[in-house]
Amino acid sequence: MQNFDELLKRVGNTPQIPLSPPNNRVELYAKLEWFNPFGSIKDRAVLWMFKDAEKKGILRKGHTILIEPTSGNTGIAIAGIARALGYTAELVVPAKVSEETKALMRRLGASVLETEDDLCPRVGPDTDQCIALAKSIIKARPGKYVMLDQYSNEANFLAHYESTGPEIWGSLKDLTHFVAGVGTGGTLTGVAAYLKKKNPNVKVIGVQPQKSHHIQGLRNLEESMMPELLRRRLDLIDEWIKITDNKAFEAVRFLAESEHLFVGPSSGAVYAAAQEVAGGLSKGKLVLIFADDGRKYWSLYNKFKVFTKEDFEYYLHNARYLPKNILFSER
Ligand SMILES: Cc1ncc(COP(=O)(O)O)c(C=O)c1O
Repeated sequence: MQNFDELLKRVGNTPQIPLSPPNNRVELYAKLEWFNPFGSIKDRAVLWMFKDAEKKGILRKGHTILIEPTSGNTGIAIAGIARALGYTAELVVPAKVSEETKALMRRLGASVLETEDDLCPRVGPDTDQCIALAKSIIKARPGKYVMLDQYSNEANFLAHYESTGPEIWGSLKDLTHFVAGVGTGGTLTGVAAYLKKKNPNVKVIGVQPQKSHHIQGLRNLEESMMPELLRRRLDLIDEWIKITDNKAFEAVRFLAESEHLFVGPSSGAVYAAAQEVAGGLSKGKLVLIFADDGRKYWSLYNKFKVFTKEDFEYYLHNARYLPKNILFSER
């Protein structure tokens, strides 16, 4: 394994690339967050939350165990960043989290506590119980376990206010729309607050999945609790668009075929929402967040017939902008 200290210096400053526009009235740009060292946008939030907790003296190296209820990218980021900074991480995950994801967490050095699916389903209505379970472990061992609590931690918002937002503004000052998915709302509110401070006319579009969805990382706010972080700044969101699993998966396939981009399901949902927005505009420049790439989603894409095994391998090998990283050293 590489030097983990070095990896932390590579959080942020991800590429923002032009996509083929759906019509000649708009321009589309995607910010490719899988260029972060542990493979997703969550590296930003997790690094900021660790640094904030260290500053507040909450963490003790060699003693504190970081515990977090998570089924995806936050867990991978916590595993990697805890290791880089010298902490132990335990991740509470539902049993049905994909083997790919659990293996990545373990490879980065975290313990993975598997819970029954009915206590902690991967996505969907009862995700909140996962949080309750982690909280009860903390209560039983006060002082030993610390939860960064991405759903209410202001450092999650600040990560995007201080890094993602300025990076987008720095590369495109005349953008008109920002489109991103909602999990904790950290990305959406952090970037929105920064962009609107620079230009109050920028429109912010939040993307939600359907109920009982299969889009890891995103949240349907009718069936899942609204995260505290989002509630604090809900007024920054100008429009919400709901995307079905089918539409998101169609977009994943379209991006592989037409743009040679190998994206994760939440990027598909964001792209599908941007198409809807673009269709109604007479002029615009849209920036989209592509939160992670498709490499850890074979079992999902197989289950929902997004790709055959041959297609998955083909698009993977022919993808643009897909660097090797600590999670995937092979193409
Ligand atoms: C793949 C993916 N997309 C989007 C998001 C949403 O990010 P946020 O928590 O900042 O709302 C996440 C968060 O976990 C994610 O994993």
